[in-house]
Parts: sequence; structure tokens; C-alpha cells
Amino acid sequence: MFASRVLITGGAGFIGSKLALRLQKLGSNVAIYDNFNPQPHEGNGDTDSALSVAGVAVIQGDIRDLSSLQAAIARCDPQIVYHLAAETGTGQSFSLPSRYAEVNVTGTAHLIEAIRSAGKSVRRVVLASSRSVYGEGACVNSQGQPALAAERLAADLMRGDYAPKDALGQSLTPVKSNADCPVAPASIYASSKLMQEYLLKQGFWGTEVQVGILRLQNVFGPGQSLNNAYTGVLSIFCRQIQEGRTLEIFEDGQIVRDFLLVDDAVSAFVAMAEVTKMPTDVLDIGSGIGVNIADVARRLLVLLGADPGRVKVTGAFRAGDIRHAVADIARAEAQLGWRPGFDLDTGLAQLADWSRVMLRAAA
Ligand SMILES: NC(=O)c1ccc[n+]([C@@H]2O[C@H](COP(=O)([O-])OP(=O)(O)OC[C@H]3O[C@@H](n4cnc5c(N)ncnc54)[C@H](O)[C@@H]3O)[C@@H](O)[C@H]2O)c1
Repeated sequence: MFASRVLITGGAGFIGSKLALRLQKLGSNVAIYDNFNPQPHEGNGDTDSALSVAGVAVIQGDIRDLSSLQAAIARCDPQIVYHLAAETGTGQSFSLPSRYAEVNVTGTAHLIEAIRSAGKSVRRVVLASSRSVYGEGACVNSQGQPALAAERLAADLMRGDYAPKDALGQSLTPVKSNADCPVAPASIYASSKLMQEYLLKQGFWGTEVQVGILRLQNVFGPGQSLNNAYTGVLSIFCRQIQEGRTLEIFEDGQIVRDFLLVDDAVSAFVAMAEVTKMPTDVLDIGSGIGVNIADVARRLLVLLGADPGRVKVTGAFRAGDIRHAVADIARAEAQLGWRPGFDLDTGLAQLADWSRVMLRAAA
């Protein structure tokens, strides 16, 4: 194991808490720094005590509070810092731009200052970035040549024309994205995640601190908030199914996403500590397999014993939504020795079972 002392910002969250528990089990001394933001935490069980019982040091603090963060880093003296603390709602970011900028952007700047002022221990910083930085992502034109997708226009979406297009309005075919794809964030959330990447790369330039960036696709699984209306579409579906509701699917139901079980995402973060030479390339982390949202909704309905026909394709669309998101994971496989270990059906079954237990307990 590369690091015996680890700090995880956002370590009480969905991914961070599972990462903390895994690393602690592997023998690291893990501390988390988290403000227990009520939005993702409400109704999600007692993460605080689950972490404490496992021996994880829980430091309650806000990434926007520089002196508190500095004190936490001085106290833990970490060798590796995982930066996961963030506001995470794509749609919500449009209505709360300053909050997203303060937490995600200024918070990251604070982390840099706190690490730089702390002295020498920190050797690696690993960011949980997002595939959202690509916007529509990699596409090819009708000749099969790589082509840049422009942001989709509200006028096209209103007409039911959902395909990504180039700047001249020619329809494009989406393909898997990797870091060769130009960045083109389509939401304030996505812009703030891209800023986190830039800040960390620039903030540690010329120092001995290595920065690793993982661009995550849609991570899902047990532990993802069932109450947060702004993120985690599969958790939202689980709740809606068990409330007897019909699942409303945006656009024509053909939006494609790459769903990765949280255990696999955690393995990628762990590999960033274990790998001898931390990759300097940005790595894409996903299952590498696209699935359309209407299809995955039907699979969840079946798993939860509901009628798979309880799906309504609405034609509605949302600002910042992109059409197709699938990772090209070849670099993560080559440079990190990581690949997903779970298939989608296994993950969906785990999520469905866990959500059933949680929602019954809450009833
Ligand atoms: N879950 C996904 O599908 C996904 C996809 C791409 C990227 N990511 C990134 O992974 C990271 C973790 O995501 P998650 O799904 O576990 O989300 P989450 O909301 O469950 O976890 C985020 C954690 O950050 C904490 N936090 C929020 N604001 C804070 C603040 N001001 N100070 C300190 N802590 C604060 C929250 O309390 C929470 O525990 C985020 O950076 C997110 O952008 C997640």
C-alpha cells in the first residue's frame, strides 16, 4: 500500500464513505473531512457512526473554511488526499451558481493552499472529476471522422431532434470518450469540475505533489441517496418505483449512460494509491458499456417486482443534459491495471435490494 495516512474530502458521501472503509480495511489510517451536507445525507442512515466504528477519523468541516481545512490536514498529516467534496447536481447548478463555485472551485483552491502550507507529507492528490467536462463528448461525422459536437440547441430539442450536431448543424454519431476528446462543459456543475482539474494541476506545478484525475461516469449502487432529487437517476427510480409511480423518461428514452457500480469506482481510487507511478494522464472511469435510460428503468422495475411497462417517455428535456456518455476505459486499464469487476445486472440487483430495505425501514 502506497499510503498509510489518507485524507478524503467528502469522505462521508456515497463514494467517499465506501472508499474510506475499503482503505481502512486495507490497513491505511483514514480520516475524512466532510460538512455532512444535508442534501445527499438526509435519510441515508448513520454514515458518521459506521465510519467511526470502522476506525475512520471523522472530521466535520466545510471545504469553504480554509483554517478548519488547514487544521485537519495538520492533524492527519496525510500522504495521499482524495478530493471528493463537492456539490454534485447538474440541473441544480444552474440555479445555485455561486454555491457550486464556492464549494467546488474555491473549495479546491483552499485544498491546494492547505496542502501547500502544511509541509511535506502529501505526495499524491486524487480528484474525483466527472465525464461531464466533455459535454456531448466524442462523436464522428457521416464519414466516420472525429467531429466536435456543439451544445444542443433548445430549438432542436423542442422539435424532438435530440441528436448531437456539429457547429454547421450536421448530425453526429456519439462514440466512447477519453481524454483526447476536447472539453466542453455544458453546465455550471461541469464547468466547476473542470476548474477543479485545472486548479489542482496548476496548484501543484513544480512541487513534488503528484495530481491524478479520474473522470467518473454515472456511479450507482447501495448507499447513493434515495432522497436527493438532483443526482443519482437509478436511486431516484428505485424510490419512484416503490412509491408506485410511473417512471418519466426524458427526451425519447434513448439517452445513453455508462453506469458503474460504486465498488468498481472505489477500486479505481484505491489503485491510484497502489500504483507505483501514478498516471499523469486523465483517466476515464466507467463500465465502458452504454445503456439507454428507458431500458435500465425497465430492468429496475422488474427487479422491484413492478410492471416493466410503467415507463413514460415524455419528450421533456433539461438544460445541461447530454445525449450520450460512455467511457473509453483503455487508458485506465493500461495505466492503472484497473477494470470493472461487476456487470450492470449484478449492480442493479444490489441497488434494488438495498433500496427496498432502506425504504421499508423509513416507512
Ligand atoms: N456519483 C457519481 O455518479 C459521480 C460522477 C462523477 C463525479 N462524481 C464526483 O465524485 C465525488 C463524490 O460524489 P458522490 O456521488 O459520492 O456525492 P455525495 O454528495 O454523496 O458526496 C459528496 C460529499 O461531499 C460533502 N460536501 C459537500 N459540500 C461540502 C463542503 N462544502 N465541505 C465539505 N464537504 C462537503 C457532502 O456532505 C458529501 O458527503 C464528487 O466530487 C462528484 O462530483 C460523482
